[in-house]
Amino acid sequence: MNKGKFIVLEGVEGAGKSRQCSLLVDALNANGRDAILTREPGGAPLAEALRRLLLDPAYSPDAVSELYMYSAARRDHLNKVVFPALAEGKIVVCDRFIYSTLAYQGYGRGLDTEFIRRVNERTVTPLTVDLAMFIDVSPEVGFARKGGADKSDRLERESLQFFRRVYDGFKAMCASGELVSIDASGSKEQTAQKIYKAVTEIL
Ligand code: TMP
Repeated sequence: MNKGKFIVLEGVEGAGKSRQCSLLVDALNANGRDAILTREPGGAPLAEALRRLLLDPAYSPDAVSELYMYSAARRDHLNKVVFPALAEGKIVVCDRFIYSTLAYQGYGRGLDTEFIRRVNERTVTPLTVDLAMFIDVSPEVGFARKGGADKSDRLERESLQFFRRVYDGFKAMCASGELVSIDASGSKEQTAQKIYKAVTEIL
């Protein structure tokens, strides 16, 4: 269905994912492409409102509620931003997508991943993902880099064991070929170059 390209970057907290997303969009635009940056949960007004609810420590949704809230935000974001941009032939770079739902609600919270896959499938149809990458930084390194967890963020209040399971989930998706693993042990610039190279190979 895509006239444009849909590209996803995934990673655990502190992996430098958001920074890498904006470096990628800047590099694509500097090279004459028409690229936009967006994120999940969020990217559109209702989805951003759902993001605020999802990350607010005042609430404690269970894993199923989280799945549906992230999915509602995703559908709104796709309808309002992603589908129109792809129809115009743009490159859409998305900070997190369905792989985060599998990693956090599936591997992290223990929700059945086949159930999540069915919900994801229904949520994103008719979108196809052109390239999904995982910035490989462990949660230990990620949280050390960002100077510890942000306790005003509900998800970041989770234990290190939770983020270990999330990380293992992302690694399993790399092993199955769903995600392309990006080695992030070098400098920020070196990681950006690896990401840019992987993207230009599919353009
Ligand atoms: P961010 O802070 O990286 O923007 O992500 C917000 C949080 O939401 C982060 O802790 C990961 C989490 N998340 C899920 O649990 N499930 C999802 O489907 C998505 C997209 C994010």
